[in-house]
Amino acid sequence: MDVTSADSAAGSSAVKHIAVLTSGGDAPGMNAAIRAVVRKAVYHGLRVSGVKHGYAGLIRGEVESMDLGSVADIIQRGGTKLFTARCKEFETDAGQEQAVRVLRDHAIDALVVIGGDGSFRGARALAHRGVKTIGIPGTIDNDIPCTDYTIGFDTAVNTVIEAIDKIRDTATSHERTYVIEVMGRNAGDIAMIAGLAGGAESILIPESPFDLKMVLEKLKHGVSRGKRHSIILVAEGVGHGMKIGEQIAEQTGWEVRVTVLGHLQRGGSPTAFDRVLASRMGAMAVDLLRAGRTSEMIGVRGSHIVATDIDEALATPRQIDLSVYELAGILSL
Ligand code: ADP
Ligand code: F6P
Repeated sequence: MDVTSADSAAGSSAVKHIAVLTSGGDAPGMNAAIRAVVRKAVYHGLRVSGVKHGYAGLIRGEVESMDLGSVADIIQRGGTKLFTARCKEFETDAGQEQAVRVLRDHAIDALVVIGGDGSFRGARALAHRGVKTIGIPGTIDNDIPCTDYTIGFDTAVNTVIEAIDKIRDTATSHERTYVIEVMGRNAGDIAMIAGLAGGAESILIPESPFDLKMVLEKLKHGVSRGKRHSIILVAEGVGHGMKIGEQIAEQTGWEVRVTVLGHLQRGGSPTAFDRVLASRMGAMAVDLLRAGRTSEMIGVRGSHIVATDIDEALATPRQIDLSVYELAGILSL
């Protein structure tokens, strides 16, 4: 259903007081999403509160009122002003019941959850307990179905590209092979897109089984046509970059260096793409709640911001676009 018509059919907002929280791994652009939720809610005359430390803070009652000024000067900042956490207790009935009590005690009738798929499972649990809940995908991994992009992915990819470019300078100078391990517990998106954009000679992702012998054949072919250095990008979901570097050194006798980019990929000022995506998704979350909608996640398809039922989203297998992976392979021959 179209959000605007659902809203006007309702006559007035279905909710009066919205809360927002961030959960799971932080991602650049989460602040821009918080800002959008707060400002769009205020624009429509709603009360809005922030919950600190994700579901852990919700259980503990860490709720504070927010206004236009609470989200000033954060659109450009990485991390999350509301802090984030992982919380085992929230996965239990007792934890969820306590969370619902806290929301009721603060007269909060709707919640926006910004996080990854784990956080969406939590959002779904609350929705099943009668709390109007909408999820916004915020994770650098880009591993959520029913959206082309998650908030933070573009920034992380740009961070990785910057690192690849710098490492390539020293790799060309010393004529060495470099392995760079990037984040992506179960997803190869960061490795695939940053690898294509950074011209990596080889990209290893969990979605595509690889044979190290074939990888080495390709690198040797490069050497035979005059390549003096190579960069191999490894998604952490494939295994430890250090181990892969050791195997390459053992099997080729080449001098190999390994860089694990780690958590620096999660920080930094969000790109314009992530700020705009977060702003549009945050505003859409408020529109959905005003229209009485619940248990949905927001996504972007092409240039459109869309909503999908959370149950459906969580049951949909996440698919990476392997044609992009193949292209990266062809262009790095
Ligand atoms: P992400 O949201 O980045 O995927 P996690 O998987 O760590 O991060 O999940 C964040 C939090 O969401 C967890 O610490 C937990 O509080 C909550 N959560 C995860 N899975 C569930 C679940 N099945 N039911 C209820 N809450 C969940
Ligand atoms: O944010 C997603 C992610 O970066 C994964 O790629 C990674 O495995 C994980 O989070 C690590 O997070 P943490 O160190 O906070 O547990």
